[in-house]
Amino acid sequence: MSSAQFKFGENLFVLPVVSPTDGYMGIDVSRLRESAGLVTYDNGMANTAVCKSSITYVDGENGILCYRGYGIEDLVEHCSFVEVAYLLVHGKLPTKEELNQFSTYLNEHSMIHEDMQHFFTGFPPNSHPMAILSAMVTSLFSFYPHIMEGDANFDITAARLISKVRTIAAFSYKKSRGQPVVYPRHDLSYCANFLNMMFNSPVKNYEINHHVVKALNQLFILHADHEQNCSTTAVRLVASARGNLYAAISAGISALWGSLHGGANQAVIEMLQMIYDDCGDVPKYVELAKNKENRFRLMGFGHAVYKNYDPRAKIAKTLCDTLLSIINVNDPLLDIALKLEEVALKDDYFISRKLYPNVDFYTGILYRAMGVPTNMLTVMFAIGRLPGWIAQWKETAEQVDGKIIRPRQIYIGPSRSGFVPIDKRM
Ligand code: SDX
Repeated sequence: MSSAQFKFGENLFVLPVVSPTDGYMGIDVSRLRESAGLVTYDNGMANTAVCKSSITYVDGENGILCYRGYGIEDLVEHCSFVEVAYLLVHGKLPTKEELNQFSTYLNEHSMIHEDMQHFFTGFPPNSHPMAILSAMVTSLFSFYPHIMEGDANFDITAARLISKVRTIAAFSYKKSRGQPVVYPRHDLSYCANFLNMMFNSPVKNYEINHHVVKALNQLFILHADHEQNCSTTAVRLVASARGNLYAAISAGISALWGSLHGGANQAVIEMLQMIYDDCGDVPKYVELAKNKENRFRLMGFGHAVYKNYDPRAKIAKTLCDTLLSIINVNDPLLDIALKLEEVALKDDYFISRKLYPNVDFYTGILYRAMGVPTNMLTVMFAIGRLPGWIAQWKETAEQVDGKIIRPRQIYIGPSRSGFVPIDKRM
């Protein structure tokens, strides 16, 4: 079917239809204003395709997630995070040589300019790490101003940002604890390096556990991209105005921070702790979440696209079982989370609204088990999501027919009125 028809008043309008590889077909309304004098209204853009993309596909009804055509389950099982980062940015899995070269770039660009160390001391001690990350990423343009779309060797640009964000995150953690920073090492893999920079110290050697390294790779893969979610749309918005990569990623970090989006993983742990401190009264909080009289929601539950179990939550839940027993961590918040899921998924309020655990429900438990503090959980989400944001920025910047993203509105303000001089105003 290549067109759609609709009647408005006495007129019949025909609009072209855009066909996908997978998923919903789209009615192309690009000429709706000129042909029918109308715009479309879609609160939250839940039914609006803002671009064509070949990076990620989510089937929300069936709980399917694919990066560049590969199922998330296969990627989590068989790949490292760096391999998946390459896949997202380049559109293909790397050969051994390509992966080695990308890993070399990650090492070569893992340090931040020593002048940036002073930026950390400018923040108050209890600054939120997402505020620091967003500011530090924007400032990278001052040190690397030459990156723009069509960059000759985008590999280095992508590797530089993926590597430095990991270093900035670890440095901000050390600074927040008043500890000396731990520099990256070229003999460690991406995830092992991060853990070492976070938890090693001159007085206590951090023993790198390969089970924890594997779980961190898998967690970052789960977060690596997710179609046109709120923060990715922010990245594409900046890219559409020809904003530079660092400015766009900083916008993505800021959008991700919201508690309805990536900030939910921190909100989940805070919610589980609140329930634990309230004698583990799970039924009380399930009822509270159903009550419209208050703003309380079950954080980590529900999703704008998944109306089935988020495949990432399924994998994270399994990871909780395996990793926590291997490293011998017994977290009472996991018991609360499991109970919450059990009670909610039997309750018609959640069943009828197709509200299931999403990616944020179990991932915070895993990061806690690794020693990551609660206020850094959304930073972990940002590190994982970075390759996806870079790929989405690149795809937008390279779009030959790309237009600046500038939506319309339904104006509901005051109609035109005559000006009233100040001495005549009531
Ligand atoms: C992420 O988009 C992405 O891909 C995002 C993400 C990614 O990888 O980038 O997947 C990451 O952001 C995951 C979502 C993390 N956020 C949370 O866990 C916060 C809690 N969840 C919600 O606030 C909510 O479910 C959203 C924001 C995630 C989705 O909102 P929707 O799809 O717009 O749903 P809605 O707000 O229209 O709610 C539909 C109904 C409403 O009730 P009724 O008006 O029909 O009576 O469901 C209710 C809502 O009140 N509802 C909830 C609920 N989520 C929705 N009620 C209680 N608890 C909840 N968590």
